[in-house]
Amino acid sequence: MQTKEGSKIDSNSNIKIGIFDSGVGGFTVVKELLSILPRIPLVYFGDTARTPYGPKSPTILKQYALEDARFLVERGANVIVIACHSAASCATEELRTRLNVPIFEVVTPSVEKACKLTRKGRIGIIGTRATVTSNVYPRLIPQTLSGAKVFQQPCPLLVPLVEEGWLKARETRIIVKKYLRPLKDKQIDTLVLGCTHYPLLKPVIQEKAGKRIKIVDPSREVAEKVAAFLIENDVESQKEASADHEFFVSDLTSHTPEIVRRFLGRKVELVKAVPKSLD
Ligand code: DGL
Repeated sequence: MQTKEGSKIDSNSNIKIGIFDSGVGGFTVVKELLSILPRIPLVYFGDTARTPYGPKSPTILKQYALEDARFLVERGANVIVIACHSAASCATEELRTRLNVPIFEVVTPSVEKACKLTRKGRIGIIGTRATVTSNVYPRLIPQTLSGAKVFQQPCPLLVPLVEEGWLKARETRIIVKKYLRPLKDKQIDTLVLGCTHYPLLKPVIQEKAGKRIKIVDPSREVAEKVAAFLIENDVESQKEASADHEFFVSDLTSHTPEIVRRFLGRKVELVKAVPKSLD
């Protein structure tokens, strides 16, 4: 069956969803997928050896994303989810051209949701520099909602604050407030959390944005898209009674399991593995 994600899926095959991210942030997407599809096997790859992706160029992100996705396909993934916004912004088309599996990503579902939620057509985007510089949101949003205005703000300090667990710290609140000021000045009414890490800061972001600004969490949106796709293709009914999940990272320190626990809300076994380089 042809999918709008650009590839085919055989409804008789056993589904294994492969999710990749620059590091541990993609566990926000894993968490949502597990809550919606607890019995579909997942294989995760976090590129902790090469993180962060946010400050990197589109050329290098395309290479890393292809290596990461191929690693997952080699481990049996037949649906790929790009959990990393920096990679999704720069490398989705590259992956769709090179790989013959359906590719989901975090950008498009949040564009659709933001366009549904906005009343004034004034949408704010926060993300890494790679995501903001790609201009993927200013390109896609007006295609979905004609006349919509997009205002972007890179927030590079937020990723390390989340990884340090400073979710409610005074310093974090000050920085969030400062980053949101220019967007509030533009009178946005909807804000997209365009980075894997930001859902953990949602309470502080909502507080500093104000109650009237609606927040879009892409991790939830992409998980719902994948679930709808599986149902449409009649593969959801083939789910196992219970599923084995695998979690790979390209570097494993003594601290990595604790950061993952913070993202996922529980401990998982992490296995170190390095994708084949395309160099
Ligand atoms: N996962 C990245 C993203 O969503 C954030 C962390 C990084 O810069 O690698 O853009």
